[in-house]
Amino acid sequence: MEFPSELKTKLKFSNKVLALTGAGISAESGVPTFRGKEGLWKQYRAEELATPQAFSKDPKLVWEWYLWRMELISEKSPNPAHFALAELEKIKSDFFLITQNVDGLHKRSGSEKLIEIHGNIFRNRCTKCGRSSASDLTKLKQSTECGSCSSLVRPDVLWFGESYDTNLLQRAIELAADSEIVLVIGSSGAVGIPVELARIAKENGAFVIEINIDPSGYSRYADLFLQGKAGEILPNILPYFK
Ligand code: APR
Repeated sequence: MEFPSELKTKLKFSNKVLALTGAGISAESGVPTFRGKEGLWKQYRAEELATPQAFSKDPKLVWEWYLWRMELISEKSPNPAHFALAELEKIKSDFFLITQNVDGLHKRSGSEKLIEIHGNIFRNRCTKCGRSSASDLTKLKQSTECGSCSSLVRPDVLWFGESYDTNLLQRAIELAADSEIVLVIGSSGAVGIPVELARIAKENGAFVIEINIDPSGYSRYADLFLQGKAGEILPNILPYFK
C-alpha cells in the first residue's frame, strides 16, 4: 500500500489518533459479526436476546445465549488487527481506542487506553445492587445469582434500548472532537452513536480513515476508504505511523 507524501507526513506526525472498532475487527479471529451474511442477527432475533425486556421475560434464555457466546469467544484469540492497534498505542502518545466489541480481544492483545463502550461480555452486573464482577463461565452456568445480595445478575453489556454510560460517552465525544486522525475499523454503522463519533471527529477537522471489507454507514465521513480485511490492512499501514 502506497500513500501520497502529504498523507504519510500526517500519519507520521499526528499524535492524537483515535481508533473506533466494531465486530469486523474480530471476524478474522472467528468471532461472528452481527450483520452481514453470517451475522448473528441473521440467525437470532435481537429483540428476544439483547433487550432489557427480553431479559425480564426470559432471563434463562438470554443467559444461555450469552454463555454460548462467552464460550465461543474464550476459545478465540486476538488477530493481527488487534495487535496492530496495541502497537499503535505504543507509537502514538495520544492514542485512544473506543470499541463497540464486548469480546475483550483488544484487552487480550495488550490495548490499555481503551473504552469498551458497549461493555464486556466477561463481566456481569447485579440487577438489584448493581455490583459488577468478572464472569466465571463455569460458575455462571450453575448460578446467575449475585454474590452479595443473591439477586439476578445480567451480562454487563449495553442492550438495545438502553442508554450509554454518560461518563464514557462524554469521554468518547471529547476524544472524537480532539482527534487528528480517526481509524474506523470493521463496523457497519447500524448503531447511531458510534457513527456520531465519526461525524464529530470529521466536523472538528480529523482525517477519517475507514477500513472495512464493504462500505458502511461511516463511509460518508471517510476521507480515505481502505477496502479489505482489517487483519491484513492494519499491519500493512502501521509503519506509516512511526
Ligand atoms: N475486516 C474489516 N471489516 C470487516 C471484516 C474484516 N475482516 N469482516 C467484516 N467486516 C465489517 C462488515 O463489512 C461490517 O461493516 O464489519 C462490520 C460488522 O458490522 P456489525 O456486525 O454490524 O458490527 P458492529 O458495527 O460492531 O455492530 C454494532 O450492534 O448488535 C449491536 O451491540 C452490537 O456492538 C454491536 C453493534
